Amino acid sequence: MGGYQVKGRAGRSTVATNITGELAKTYQTVLIDCDMPQGSALSWAALRNDWHPGLRVEKVANHRELVATVERLKPDTEYLVLDGPPRLAEMTRAILVLADLCLVPIGASPAEVWATSDLRTLIEDATKVRRVNARLIWTRFRAYTTLAQELSVDAENALGLVALKTTLGYRVAYAEALGQGRTAAEVHDSHAKEEVKALLSEVTRLLAKH
Ligand SMILES: Nc1ncnc2c1ncn2[C@@H]1O[C@H](COP(=O)(O)OP(=O)(O)OP(=O)(O)O)[C@@H](O)[C@H]1O
Ligand SMILES: [Mg+2]
Repeated sequence: MGGYQVKGRAGRSTVATNITGELAKTYQTVLIDCDMPQGSALSWAALRNDWHPGLRVEKVANHRELVATVERLKPDTEYLVLDGPPRLAEMTRAILVLADLCLVPIGASPAEVWATSDLRTLIEDATKVRRVNARLIWTRFRAYTTLAQELSVDAENALGLVALKTTLGYRVAYAEALGQGRTAAEVHDSHAKEEVKALLSEVTRLLAKH
């Protein structure tokens, strides 16, 4: 799995950490932070290990380290979750090639949709090496607004990607969870909990088919 968005703050670390925290309850899972020196995933994992020890986390400084780390961990890991950087083209290309499923978070603003279209070139490059399995995921989603529906169509066309059925709403629970080393299913918000559960089941289903 991997995440990418040209513009920062789209929700990559949010998606990666929620998926990691939930998968790790059942499967051998390792989170790889590919966004150093920022290290949001690393910080989240450190906070999580304070109250819930045992989560495995790694960091990589460049795409060569990523390839080596994935090779090393793959044999005894069921899920590797990669938290991607906002801009590094080489790292992003490596993630697109390595990952069985790439999630591209997109918040609900028109500017972000256009910024994300740069990603199309990287996806086309990666496709020369391997069939890329990528989906958009709406974060900060407000359902049933005309804007949201129009944006979905624009984004899907701009990137040639379809969106996951699961969307993450605009909820304090996501920000809270990221700051506490938790998943949004572990803070008190039943809507966020449902979304995170739906995300997990959709992602594991897509990976099983792959
Ligand atoms: N669905 C959401 N609802 C409310 N807040 C959110 C949501 N998704 C993300 N956020 C908040 O937005 C901020 C950016 O999210 P996040 O760190 O996941 O994005 P990112 O794409 O990894 O950004 P960066 O470029 O900093 O790595 C965080 O403070 C996060 O808690
Ligand atoms: Mg991040």
